[in-house]
Amino acid sequence: MSDIKVHAEGGVMTITLNRLERKNSITSAMYGMLADAIHAAQEDANVRVAVLQGHETVFSAGNDIGDFLNQPPAGKDSPVFRFLHGIATFPKPLLAAVCGPAVGVGTTMLFHCDLVYAGDNAAFSMPFVNLGLCPEAASSLLVPQMFGYHRGAEALLLGEPFMAEAALEVGLVNRVLPPTEASNFAQAQAKKLAAKPLSSLVETKRLMKKGQQPQVLQQMQDEGESFRRLLQEPAAKEAFTAFMEKRKPDFSKL
Ligand code: COA
Repeated sequence: MSDIKVHAEGGVMTITLNRLERKNSITSAMYGMLADAIHAAQEDANVRVAVLQGHETVFSAGNDIGDFLNQPPAGKDSPVFRFLHGIATFPKPLLAAVCGPAVGVGTTMLFHCDLVYAGDNAAFSMPFVNLGLCPEAASSLLVPQMFGYHRGAEALLLGEPFMAEAALEVGLVNRVLPPTEASNFAQAQAKKLAAKPLSSLVETKRLMKKGQQPQVLQQMQDEGESFRRLLQEPAAKEAFTAFMEKRKPDFSKL
């Protein structure tokens, strides 16, 4: 069974993270598949809406840490960047159904979705600092903007999880549902959108996003440079070694 499932029906392409045994953590190969699926959804005239989802128990544990250390993102052509650029510039409606943990990119990808439906078990976190890294996916721009600076700083500097109700309050999610209903609800909303005139949807989204689009893409590039530099530094090495050794990292001497 593939780690990414793609299913298109009735104008809706559903992209499912399907690597439950590793908590839907995302490898470089999976980013490549995600980027290809998003590209296909953009190009295929029969696809009018795309939906990202995981499982009722977990959306995504973020980057697969082992794979990430073996194949660190190398630049603009890397699969992770292709995926993030793909969702940041996706012209059609993009929805997400999120249940359980959504760590790192599992949360930051949601800032590029138009509608987000969360299970009441959803736990969002952006622990980049705790890993000796910095935010990605333009989250250093979009989080303070959406949450307000102080709540944004709390989410990005402390990196602690926040639950579905808090995500609803700051506007990251549209609605909180029982986990068994989040995916079906997202599908129902996607079907409603798929029945609307695509050109109007695309134009409306373009108009809502156009003011900020260049800034978002520039921020992603700046973050990428910092991220790659920090990845080589001792704090990240200690954080990732600690993860692999199943212990708490010790930053006291760094
Ligand atoms: N990369 C690689 N493997 C991961 C992973 C990741 N990001 N997240 C989880 N796994 C692995 C675990 O190591 C564990 O493997 P094991 O069975 O060989 O011990 C397995 O998936 C199950 O994870 P576990 O931690 O036991 O599940 P949980 O339900 O207790 O917790 C999470 C789920 C998502 C909260 C927790 O796994 C977690 O915090 N993961 C790391 C998240 C992270 O730091 N991501 C990086 C962001 S850049």
